[in-house]
Amino acid sequence: MADTNHVKKVAIVGVNGTVGKYITKALLSGGKHEVTAVTRGDAEIPKGVKVAKVSYDDPASLTKALEGQDVLIITMGTRAPKDTQQKLVEAAAAANVAFVFPNAWGIESSYGALGTDTLLGPPAIAAMRRAEELGKSAWIMMNTGYWYSHSLATSSAHGFDLNNKTVTFYDEGTTKINNITWEKTGDAVRNLLSLPIEPEGGNGPTLSDYRNKQVYISGWLLSQKDIFQHVLRVSGTMESDWTIKYEPAAQRYEEAKKRLFSGDRSAYNQMLYARTYYNNGDGNFETRHVLENEKLGLAPETPESLDEQTKLAFELAASGYKY
Ligand SMILES: NC(=O)c1ccc[n+]([C@@H]2O[C@H](COP(=O)([O-])OP(=O)(O)OC[C@H]3O[C@@H](n4cnc5c(N)ncnc54)[C@H](OP(=O)(O)O)[C@@H]3O)[C@@H](O)[C@H]2O)c1
Repeated sequence: MADTNHVKKVAIVGVNGTVGKYITKALLSGGKHEVTAVTRGDAEIPKGVKVAKVSYDDPASLTKALEGQDVLIITMGTRAPKDTQQKLVEAAAAANVAFVFPNAWGIESSYGALGTDTLLGPPAIAAMRRAEELGKSAWIMMNTGYWYSHSLATSSAHGFDLNNKTVTFYDEGTTKINNITWEKTGDAVRNLLSLPIEPEGGNGPTLSDYRNKQVYISGWLLSQKDIFQHVLRVSGTMESDWTIKYEPAAQRYEEAKKRLFSGDRSAYNQMLYARTYYNNGDGNFETRHVLENEKLGLAPETPESLDEQTKLAFELAASGYKY
């Protein structure tokens, strides 16, 4: 008899994107889902994934791609035109897709001024509201914190230039924010989508618990100074080997914002991280919300796993990692 109490068909935008490739890998490894890449056609398709080619100028192609799917996961590049996500949300409703994961995968973008100041809030909120208006797909918004190794290897993010041993601490460098690995994000999505849709006797979590809900997961709650301790240990260096600077987070934010609004898109990352590191706690969502790590069966992180990810950041930086 067909299992109607679990989702099976999962469509993903960004099958080969930075985070999408990890979500895809995790879904395939679970062996419970049939994954379809919704792609404009340039993506390299992992083995075992079906392909639905789309054009964002042709809404019918989106609806066609999503017909028969239970879930749509959107991990879309931030440079995609602003209306692209809404087109997907509308197509998902037209195709009766039961669950949509809008673009999120980082800070709590719908949280008041944090969302407005980082420009991430309005599109996230618009996607949730549009899905609700159309009333066909439930949204699930994944708040994960920053990708740790990526953020550590990118100097405009956590403030470290690993290749040149310099660090800029924002304010005192002691504000803690949420961080995650790509793998844990993939595991969380797979485990969430493996839950029964409705209760099956017992009172374990169900996918329906998460209808129109924010999900909060995290690997580590860390300040820049916490990170520095791991950087020193992994690199076998001492503080005196590093050039250390301090800059007020608000000043750093305002300076980047000015550059961004003058047309320098490269200033965005500095603006985003400086704002997240404000010492008002905006970048620490676990003080406001319960983490779902345990409910979703995510393995706890350890100091060793943080060192491994720190090593990875050094490798990424040495290889000239650019986002
Ligand atoms: N937590 C963090 O530290 C962190 C860091 C960076 C980003 N993020 C978030 O993660 C999410 C996904 O980012 P990502 O870096 O994984 O994405 P990405 O790799 O840059 O792009 C993912 C996919 O988006 C599609 N895409 C790109 N440009 C497009 C365009 N102009 N029009 C239509 N589709 C386009 C492409 O798919 P096809 O070619 O297959 O069509 C691409 O493979 C975003 O919400 C972003 O804000 C989080």
